[in-house]
Parts: sequence; structure tokens; C-alpha cells
Amino acid sequence: MMKSLKISTFPDYETLSKEAAMFVFQKIKETHEQKNTCVLGLPTGSTPIGMYQQLVTLINDSFQLTTFNLDEYYPIQKDNDQSYHYFMSKQFWKPISSQSAKGEFNIPNGEAKDPQEECQRYEQAIKNAGGIDLMILGIGGNGHIGFNEPGSAPDSRTRLVNIADSTVQANSRFFNSMAEVPRQAITMGVGTILESREILLLASGKSKKNIISTLLALEKPDRQIPASWLITHPHVYVYLDTEARA
Ligand code: GLP
Repeated sequence: MMKSLKISTFPDYETLSKEAAMFVFQKIKETHEQKNTCVLGLPTGSTPIGMYQQLVTLINDSFQLTTFNLDEYYPIQKDNDQSYHYFMSKQFWKPISSQSAKGEFNIPNGEAKDPQEECQRYEQAIKNAGGIDLMILGIGGNGHIGFNEPGSAPDSRTRLVNIADSTVQANSRFFNSMAEVPRQAITMGVGTILESREILLLASGKSKKNIISTLLALEKPDRQIPASWLITHPHVYVYLDTEARA
């Protein structure tokens, strides 16, 4: 199988964040020229924070954006400061709105009574928006994308999933106690992600070095490494800093 990943390595996190923001901004402009709007898929986590900070300085009121976040804990209240809803509101939606850019921001509803129905609604909303032009991704230490943990099928859709023990452990740094760390989430599926027209994967820091070297060495997808399905997609850009690449 042809490896399609287009890899760029930057000296540090700040440069990676700036370059990622420039890349996203370029795509927004290009897509806007074609159809007067742009549909982005967005990640949470510590990795994209720098990119969001840069991006809000670039986007202005001439842009119409529709965004779909990858995932959300389930169940969780929107106003919980560990919800992805809260994170996005703080890092992107509020700053963007204050730049008067017009946006429609979507994220799976962690408060939904019926999670299955919420998953179907979310898939339909992505379809109704015409699909995702550019999906931005982080990566978990175990190779997860969104909350697609090892074993996820390549044709999986938005669904309720159990979070892997290693991810619960990794996420526990943000919570007061292990008992508070959510064990389930609603996530776009691998199939949903792969339908995006283009994908930008970001990884920064030493903690991502192992999974990145594993990913880059793969000749074909490995079901135990959800990010490995990305090598089947023709337009994937991987932005790394030297610590993640070394
Ligand atoms: C979480 C999210 C992922 C994210 C990952 C890595 O588990 N569900 O979408 O990519 O964490 O996060 P970080 O960027 O903080 O390393």
C-alpha cells in the first residue's frame, strides 16, 4: 500500500502551532472561495491549544465557519470545566465570536438522554453540512483518534464507546480523582473521520514519540492502532515537533 502521509517536522511547539494555524487558515480561505463556507472537524486535548490561539488571530468577520468536534465525554454536563464543550467554548468558540466571525459550532451532546439517538443526529448533521472539508486530529499515546480506541473498525460511525483504561489514566490528570474521570464518550467513528476531504494530524512532545515512530513505520493499517487507518486516506498531513519525531 502506498503511504500517503505528508509529514512536516517543526523545531518546537510554538512553531508547530503557528504552522498548523496557517495551514488551517489557508484551507478555510480556499474552501471559502469555492463555496462560501468551510466545514472543519476539531479536536480537544492539550496539543491543539496553541493552534487555536493562533487561528483566532487570523480569522475575521468575512468567514462563515461550520465546525464539528470529534468527541465528548458521556455523560457530562456542558458547564463541567472538564467537558469538551467547556474547552471549545473557552479556546475557540468565544474568541472567534468576539472576532465577529460567523460560525455554527457543533459538538456531541454529553447531556443527551438517548446517546444512540444523539450519535445518529450528529452523523446526519455532518452530512447535512456537506461533509467535513478539513479534519484536525490529535493522537492518544495508544494511537487513538477522537475516542476511537484500539480495536475500532475502519467503517465505525459516531457512537457511544468505552474509554480505554490507559486513556482514563492519561485523562485523570485533569480531574480531582480517578472516580470523576468519565469512562464513556461519544466519538465520531474512524469511518466518519476518513470521509473528511483532508486531514491534519498534530503531535507534540516526547510522550508522542513512541506512537509516532510506530505509525510512521507501518506498511499497512493495524486495527490495534486506530490512527493507522489514516494511511489509507489520500490527503493526510502530519505536523510534528522534533520531540514527537525524534
Ligand atoms: C483525548 C482526546 C483525543 C486527543 C487525545 C490527546 O483523549 N479524546 O481527541 O487527541 O486526548 O490529547 P493531548 O493532545 O492532550 O495529548
